[in-house]
Amino acid sequence: MKTLALILTASLTLGWLAQSAPVKLALPAETATLKAGPGVELATANCLTCHSVEYISTQPKLTRTAWKASVDKMKGKFGAPIPDDQVEKLADYLAATYGKPDPAK
Ligand code: HEC
Repeated sequence: MKTLALILTASLTLGWLAQSAPVKLALPAETATLKAGPGVELATANCLTCHSVEYISTQPKLTRTAWKASVDKMKGKFGAPIPDDQVEKLADYLAATYGKPDPAK
């Protein structure tokens, strides 16, 4: 009787295991995007490959000088494959959308 119960339990368990659907994980869609503006495609292509948009959008408003330094850092220090002739354009976009004016000289 004990054996029968054991076999029954085992087969029930196996049956349940076999029937259980594969676990489906629904991750929330990556909806955050960079703000629209001239150069947004460039920034989307060059800045969102390593990290999310929040790295950019949660920064305090930076001056163009600071944004340019940030782009240089991503390129130089972190190895972002940003073409040389795109650095200024990216700084322009970032300063215009997530920046503030450089203090008057
Ligand atoms: C090659 C990968 C890579 C690319 C491409 C990249 N970044 Fe980063 N970024 C990083 C890493 C690594 C960090 C530091 C992450 C950390 O500290 O957790 C970082 C951090 C940042 C930060 C947070 C402040 C800081 O300096 O740590 C900002 C702002 C930022 N990135 C902006 C940009 C912008 C703008 C671009 C496009 C021009 C860009 N990133 C492209 C790798 C990259």
